[in-house]
Amino acid sequence: MGRLITLDEFIIKRQKDFPFASGELTALLRDIGLAAKMINREVNRAGLVNIIGLADKQNSSGDKVQKLDLYANDRMIEFLGNSGECCGIASEELEDFIPLPDVESKSAKYVVVFDPLDGSSNIDVNVSVGTIFGIYRRVSDVGTPVTKEDFFQPGKNLVAAGYVTYGTSTILVYTTGKGVNGFTLDPSVGEFFLSHRDIRIPEKAKYYSVNQGYYLKYDFGMRRYIDHCNELNLKLRYIGTMVSDIHRILFQGGVFIYPNMSDYPMGKLRLLYECNPMAMIVEQCGGKATTCQGKRILDAKVTDLHQRTSIAIGSPRMVEDVKSFSEKYKAMTVLE
Ligand code: AHG
Ligand code: MN
Ligand code: MN
Repeated sequence: MGRLITLDEFIIKRQKDFPFASGELTALLRDIGLAAKMINREVNRAGLVNIIGLADKQNSSGDKVQKLDLYANDRMIEFLGNSGECCGIASEELEDFIPLPDVESKSAKYVVVFDPLDGSSNIDVNVSVGTIFGIYRRVSDVGTPVTKEDFFQPGKNLVAAGYVTYGTSTILVYTTGKGVNGFTLDPSVGEFFLSHRDIRIPEKAKYYSVNQGYYLKYDFGMRRYIDHCNELNLKLRYIGTMVSDIHRILFQGGVFIYPNMSDYPMGKLRLLYECNPMAMIVEQCGGKATTCQGKRILDAKVTDLHQRTSIAIGSPRMVEDVKSFSEKYKAMTVLE
């Protein structure tokens, strides 16, 4: 067995991979790692303490907000404000972006977007949840307040992205555009250790992942694509936590799709907080991420903080097939 490498040690070793001032990103990723440990502790105690259950309000996307969403959101903001490298954040749980104050007169150059708790409907039933984040270099002048343009950047401008899955173990996966690595939390010492080096998505796919219960709400192309997966005898897995569903696909191959449907004509998942960061990771693993009509997610123009999109993400051949089915049945596409 090789020597154990901690997340902090790994980030510092790989600083040269980062195109800008390296210490800044190191500090940011460390802040996120710390927030993840705090969220992990609370997720693990969810059944024990009186923190689960509805917080009696809705987020700006109209979804029910659970208390753990708010806890996770607060920890992300708190820890990202620590090192002074982040000048603003945008979160799935907040209506608008918020500027973060300077720390020790440092001029922060980065903004961070995140989904603090992904799959929150799974909390009460002890099923895995996640956190997703993306880091952009600001486009407005350093030293001035952040603007919406700092956040309205296409996913291809991300300088780093990652996720944490709070599952049978807690794993943090991140990329700075030079491959993807995963780190497993050892709760007894409170450290993330390198556990999955240079992750590559398998080309041969075993799984497809879609909410098949909505079959009749999808257009014909997506219905026929699902039929095609059935004909291939692919295994269906759908956790209802995007992070966990995609985590499986990264290691075992397959496709995750969340199509446009009658309830969500633009798709349900959020471009900024969910789709762009996961798309960067999957592309870095050798996979693809497009809309269900075949447009690359990372090229999508951002015009709204809470913009939604359809998504097909995973092993490249399968993602290309989604596009082919969409095109073949385009003329028959009417969402009832
Ligand atoms: P969130 O908990 O952040 O709102 O995200 C839930 C998302 C995503 O993680 C998951 O894939 C999808 O919603 C599940 O939606 P359905 O229940 O509509 O399938
Ligand atoms: Mn989510
Ligand atoms: Mn969420």
